[in-house]
Amino acid sequence: MLNFDFHNPTHIAFGKGRVADLAKLVPAEAKVLILVGGASAEKTGTLAEVRTALGGRTHATFSGIEPNPSFETSMKAVEQVRSGGFDFLLAVGGGSVIDAVKFIAAAVHFEGDAWAILEKRGRNIARAVPFGAVLTLPATGSEMNNGGVITHRGKGAKLAFSSVHTYPKFSVLDPTKTYTLPPQQLANGVVDAFVHTVEQYLTYPVNAPVQDRFAEGILQTLIEVGPRLLTAPEPVYDDRANLMWAATMALNGLIGAGVPQDWATHMIGHELTALHGIDHARTLAIVLPALLNERRGPKREKLLQYGERVWGITTGTDDERITAAIERTRDFFERMGIPTRLSGYGLGADTIGTVVAQLEAHGMVQLGEQREITPAVSRRILEAAL
Ligand code: NZQ
Ligand code: ZN
Repeated sequence: MLNFDFHNPTHIAFGKGRVADLAKLVPAEAKVLILVGGASAEKTGTLAEVRTALGGRTHATFSGIEPNPSFETSMKAVEQVRSGGFDFLLAVGGGSVIDAVKFIAAAVHFEGDAWAILEKRGRNIARAVPFGAVLTLPATGSEMNNGGVITHRGKGAKLAFSSVHTYPKFSVLDPTKTYTLPPQQLANGVVDAFVHTVEQYLTYPVNAPVQDRFAEGILQTLIEVGPRLLTAPEPVYDDRANLMWAATMALNGLIGAGVPQDWATHMIGHELTALHGIDHARTLAIVLPALLNERRGPKREKLLQYGERVWGITTGTDDERITAAIERTRDFFERMGIPTRLSGYGLGADTIGTVVAQLEAHGMVQLGEQREITPAVSRRILEAAL
C-alpha cells in the first residue's frame, strides 16, 4: 500500500426528511446565499423546503448555474456574494451546482483574475466562504469531496481544481430528492459513480485488499441497482438510497487512499464535454472501454481480478477473460441506455485531432497511473472509440 493522508471533514446528514436539519446545520447567525441550477429545485419543491428550514436567517437565491457550470456565471454569483455580504453559501442541486459553489466560495476571497484558480488547479486557494449542500442528483461525489470542475465558455476549456478549503461543511443526502430525476440523469449517475470507482481501482496491485473490496462492493452495488432504477414503475427508496451512498463513497477519498489512481478517462472526457457538450458520464462511457483495451497490458492483473470478482469471469485464457471483462463493462453502460461510441453521438474521426490538441493545450500529456498516456496514446484510444 502507498503512504497516504485521509481526512474528510464533511458532515453527512442522510435519509428521508433531512432537509429540515438545515435549521441546525447552518450557523444560526449566517447570512445565506442559496445557489441553484435551472428550474428543477423550484419545480420539485426542494427550494421551498430549504427556505423554510432556514427559518429567520437572512437569505437570498442565485439561480442559473448550468450543467457543466461556467466560469462566467460563477463570477456573477461571486459579485452577488461580495455585494450582498453573504457569509454562508448553500448549494441545492447536482454536481454542477455544488462544483460551482466550491469555486465561488474560493473566488470571493481571490484577488486578481479568478481563472488563475483553475490554471493552478486550486493550489492557490488560501481560503473560502463556508458552504453546505443539499444533493439532488447522485453521481459526482462532489457532496463529500473537495474537487470541482469549471468550464470557461469563452476559452472552451473545462478544468478541475481541488483544495483543502473546498470541502462542504455538510451535505444533506435525502434519497427521495432523486425521485424527480429523468431516466437519463439516473443512468448518468450510475455510470459516473462506476467510472470514479474504476479510476481508483483498475490500475496495478499494491496489496490494498480493503480498498479493492470496497471498490468491488461499490461496483457490484451499481451493477445490481442500476438497471432496476430504469425499469421500476415507481421509485424504490432503498434503491435510490443505495445509489446515493454508492456514488458518495465512490469519490470521497476512501477507496482512493493508498492506491494508484488513473483519471485519464475523465481528462479525455472533459475535453469531449467542452468541445461537444456531451454529458459528463456519457463521455466516460465512450472513453473507458477503449482505454481499458489500450491499457490491457499494464492493467492486466487488476483487469483479471475485476473480471473474476465483479463479473464472475473465471474461464478462458487471461486475454479472453480481459476481453470479456471489458465487453461486460461496455454492455452494462449500453444497458443503462448510454451509447459507448463516438458515432452514437454523431461524432466521427474528424474531431479526434481537436480533442488531442486540447489535451496538449491543457498539459494532459502524461495521463494515467503510469503517466504513459501521451497524446499519441489518447489518439489511439479515441480512434478505438469511433
Ligand atoms: O439545472 P437544473 O434545473 O437543476 O437541472 C439539473 C440539470 O439539468 C437536473 N437535476 C438535478 N437534480 C434534479 C434534476 N432534475 C430533476 N430532479 C432533480 N432532483 O439534472 C441536470 C444535470 O445536473 P448536473 O448537476 O449537471 O449533473 P451532475 O451531478 O452529473 O454533475 C455534472 C458535473 O459535475 C462534474 C462534471 O464534470 C459536470 O460538470 N464532476 C464533478 C466531480 C467532483 N466535483 O468531484 C467529479 C465528476 O467526475 C465530474 O467531473
Ligand atoms: Zn466523473
